[in-house]
Amino acid sequence: MATTDLDTLERDLLSQVEAASDEAALETVRVAALGKKGSVSELLKTLGAMTPDERKARGPLINGLRDRVQGALAGRREALAEAALEARLAAERIDVTLPLREAPDARGRIHPISQVMEEITAIFADMGFSVAEGPDIETDELNFTALNFPPGHPAREMHDTFFLAPDAQGKRKVLRTHTSPVQIRTMRSKAPPIRVIIPGRTYRHDSDQTHTPMFHQCEGLVIDKAANIANLKWVLEEFCRAFFEVEAVKMRFRPSFFPFTEPSAEVDIQCSRKGGEIRFGEGTDWLEILGCGMVHPNVLRNCGLDPDEVQGFAFGVGLDRIAMLKYGMPDLRPFFEADVRWLDHYGFRPLDVPSLVAGLTA
Ligand code: DAH
Repeated sequence: MATTDLDTLERDLLSQVEAASDEAALETVRVAALGKKGSVSELLKTLGAMTPDERKARGPLINGLRDRVQGALAGRREALAEAALEARLAAERIDVTLPLREAPDARGRIHPISQVMEEITAIFADMGFSVAEGPDIETDELNFTALNFPPGHPAREMHDTFFLAPDAQGKRKVLRTHTSPVQIRTMRSKAPPIRVIIPGRTYRHDSDQTHTPMFHQCEGLVIDKAANIANLKWVLEEFCRAFFEVEAVKMRFRPSFFPFTEPSAEVDIQCSRKGGEIRFGEGTDWLEILGCGMVHPNVLRNCGLDPDEVQGFAFGVGLDRIAMLKYGMPDLRPFFEADVRWLDHYGFRPLDVPSLVAGLTA
């Protein structure tokens, strides 16, 4: 091969090396030049058949060519590796100075109503109550009639009921106005002794600072052979002490009327309102917090129970109201506005599950 051909070959190979855009392409160029059958290897093989003079002249040219091609290959390989590393470093860069993102359990908040339901469940579970539930859409029969509100009775009017269309059997449905219909469901489905609480959503056509069309109640029901008013008072006192987390509470039972209890009472607890702040377990003011009474014999009969055999008591607490009282929230409406800033302020940490052992709001 003439010297000019060697020059052409070298230029050709060096430009191929430069053009190789990755390791694989570069390897192809290397094999084509320096592999067993490569163009440069073939040239080197011709040295063996030359005369010593020829070899002396051509040897350095061919070897020089091989060395430069090898050098170019090594240089290109290094450049490619460096570029690959640069690209990877750029792609995988993390800014270790960024602040840690909060985990969901640190960021999320439990709504005060859910928290209060958990607190009440913990308190009553400790006294041997279990939790019962019923549907939000209730029959007129269960919401009223079975609870001893006869058709046309004026007590029905006080409930500002949302009425729904009658079902296929012609039964009129309502959005339940209280959790009391679940008393009926419970007494009709299980035999005494019964000891349940029934937390849930309730609905009335009413809206102002302390009323929303949807609100929450918790019902209590105890039925056995001997449950009496003294037991009722003890249970409610125990509940208020535990819920408001005070040593003692004074309670006042005022005679009242509910169709499903006889006698009926409304319960006030003692508080002080000094400086616009409500405190329990002290002071001279009274605050109404619940309704209660001995289950009316008609209600027992409506559930197939014999009033001469069993008796019991019931109570109903407005959950929104006692949540507002306990946690000092002046307005009920934000409870249902889903404003995360409000929830951030008034909500509870998800892992702070209330228990009597750990302290309800410890
Ligand atoms: N259901 C009543 C209401 O919504 C509250 C109530 C009062 C429930 C007395 C009871 C009770 O179980 O005994 O106004």
